[in-house]
Amino acid sequence: MTLRNHMKSPIGSTFALAALTTLTLAATASAAPGSITQKPFGTAPSGQAVSLYTLTNSHGMVVKITNYGGIVTSILVPDRRGKLDDVVLGYDNVAGYIKGSPYFGALVGRYANRIAKGKFTLNNKTYTLAVNNGVNHLHGGKIGFDKKVWAASPVRIPNGAGLSLTLYSPDMEEGYPGNLAVHVVYSLTDDNALKIAYTATTDKPTVLNLTNHSYFNLNGAGSGTILDHTLMINANRYTPIDKTSIPFGLLAPVAGTPFDFRRPHVIGERINAANLQIKNGAGYDHNFVLNHRGSSLIVAARAYSPKTGRVLTVSTTEPGVQLYTGNFLDGTNVGKGGKVYNRRNAFCLETQHFPDSPNQKAFPTTTLRPGQVYRQTTIDKFSTR
Ligand code: GLA
Repeated sequence: MTLRNHMKSPIGSTFALAALTTLTLAATASAAPGSITQKPFGTAPSGQAVSLYTLTNSHGMVVKITNYGGIVTSILVPDRRGKLDDVVLGYDNVAGYIKGSPYFGALVGRYANRIAKGKFTLNNKTYTLAVNNGVNHLHGGKIGFDKKVWAASPVRIPNGAGLSLTLYSPDMEEGYPGNLAVHVVYSLTDDNALKIAYTATTDKPTVLNLTNHSYFNLNGAGSGTILDHTLMINANRYTPIDKTSIPFGLLAPVAGTPFDFRRPHVIGERINAANLQIKNGAGYDHNFVLNHRGSSLIVAARAYSPKTGRVLTVSTTEPGVQLYTGNFLDGTNVGKGGKVYNRRNAFCLETQHFPDSPNQKAFPTTTLRPGQVYRQTTIDKFSTR
């Protein structure tokens, strides 16, 4: 299929694609550098056919994304010897994601992470959301953005490839107010980075917190533990949680705790420490307060696998990042190529606003009002050493 008509730019205006170039969507997975190909990936519960898009850059890095849930299903990056491996957990087809996925690679919304007891008040009105995680609301509810079919179209990136995804979420969907238009552009750039740029607008005041929920293993998905990776997190403070994983509201110093990743630490070093916060999270499942000086993009975290030499550097405009060390993976998820994902076989760095912000006055606001544009940018850059 050749696209010659109009498409959406990252900021929402239309422009003639033909004037720039002609992108060819081949029905095969083999891809030339700087290209994007499309193939069938199965059928969503709604009956809609969904696709798998393969993005390739000029260094041979490959990212696969489906428009079901905006899920990044695969990231192939070289190790220090140049060997390509897939470093994210996922499934071979959409049926796997539908059957049961702990948000592998998905775009999460409307509210990534938890809202206490599934309730919040905005403009004196209380809204009630699904309680789908113990006593709390998690990751947008029963049918969050991770389970929606997004409208997809390719985007031209020099020596790389891009995919634009849009989703319209009607007023009161999953209990959230406002008709919401969400636009996410994934760009695989020539410097082995996957850039995720989000924008959204609403016609009524609402709350919004979007993230991508990729599960990384820099030794290769399904190759075992990530406890040997080292991790740096650019945060002097974190948000301690209660037994139900809701923050108390304070920003506590990481100094002298297992949460101090300001200098790189092996993830497994303190993950079983006798520490109440480690206990409440069943390991690391906490929001870190990034050391921002403004709202510009900063390095949030850097993970490194001594075994393969792969480095993942995450930069973001968001105020926080959730470190989740796959504490709830229990071997029941059989992923790509029949590989089993066990406890702590992956880590997530979910760039975000702080959990439960709609109920926490001291946290940066997650309210989006008509006329405002929500923006968040996160870049996952891969390198080796
Ligand atoms: C987030 C949460 C975790 C867990 C995962 C999905 O990271 O903080 O507690 O629910 O999503 O399994």
